[in-house]
Amino acid sequence: MIAASPDAGSSPVDIAAFAPTLVAWQRTHGRQALPWQQLDGPRDAYRVWLAEVMLQQTQVAAVVPFYRRFVERFPTVAALADASLDDVMRHWSGLGYYSRARNLHAAARTVVADFDGRFPDTVDALASLPGIGRSTAAAVAAFAFGRKAAILDGNVRRVLSRVFLVDEPPSSGPTTKRLWALAESLLPDRDIERYTQGLMDLGATLCTPRRPTCLVCPFERTCLAHREGVEETLPRRSSKKPLPTRHAVLLLITRGDEVLLERRPPVGIWGGLWSLPESSPVEATTKAMRHGAVASVEPGAGFVHGFTHYVLHADVLTVRLHATGAITEVASPDDSTRWVSADALASLGLPAPIRTLLAARPAR
Ligand code: ADE
Repeated sequence: MIAASPDAGSSPVDIAAFAPTLVAWQRTHGRQALPWQQLDGPRDAYRVWLAEVMLQQTQVAAVVPFYRRFVERFPTVAALADASLDDVMRHWSGLGYYSRARNLHAAARTVVADFDGRFPDTVDALASLPGIGRSTAAAVAAFAFGRKAAILDGNVRRVLSRVFLVDEPPSSGPTTKRLWALAESLLPDRDIERYTQGLMDLGATLCTPRRPTCLVCPFERTCLAHREGVEETLPRRSSKKPLPTRHAVLLLITRGDEVLLERRPPVGIWGGLWSLPESSPVEATTKAMRHGAVASVEPGAGFVHGFTHYVLHADVLTVRLHATGAITEVASPDDSTRWVSADALASLGLPAPIRTLLAARPAR
């Protein structure tokens, strides 16, 4: 049930007051000094877009250092389009959800090739670029071009579901349609940048999933969920099944100071990144023997890593090869495996848990 749909006539929430209240709150209490923010003055669509993609599924505090390093290395969309995918992946390494980096690179190339190096300024054209959904396209259109466009990410869903008491099955099509319609109906004719930022800020700082800080919320007196005392139960959560588990055996094959890395296929988990070769336990030694004479095989420290769709339980087998007499394979002909020294690891794109695992390796 939506208690205050925009067409409800006798709506208990003042729809017209929503945006001005939020904008006023953003001016005094919202976030003003994020490195990608350009709420007043000239904007650089490239930086806005980059930040919005990085902020998908990732919190502000985690994004800031990556964002700074990334724009230093790739200051323009042309610089990004010119770079190799390897270089882009390396700068993304640690941020997770690597398909974002592949899409980012592809989108930069599209902007250069099809849009003359200038970001398109409409939601539809932005949404046609790889990796940009409707909400991200709207955020870029609002922040970079002042377009009156509605966003609906997880934070905004929560804010709207509470203020307007949208008590419906969370991920159903009709609920999403209603929330989009509500988001559209609330858009102001001015200050769209601050309004959009205000929605994001309210969701991230006060209207949090658990223990929202209603006492200082600008909608404390009008929020329908708060009035009913049900703010913490909204939006209704889907009954979550536990994630499936996947087991893998990773081979830490070393030769003196060097470790053997294998490039993951371009699509899928950790796509395009350098990781440890995978094997079944029985094939481990045979696989390692292709690269040299085996000196020892012992279990190493494994790890558990959560992905969106499953939890990976990785066992690690440490295989030491004799440094001398090795079949010296500097790199495979297709460059899908490489011997890498400890010093050279920093310059490769590695998944965060693999980087951590290698950093914990005792020095030889
Ligand atoms: N989350 C998504 N986009 C954001 C932005 N521009 N500022 C803060 N948090 C965000």
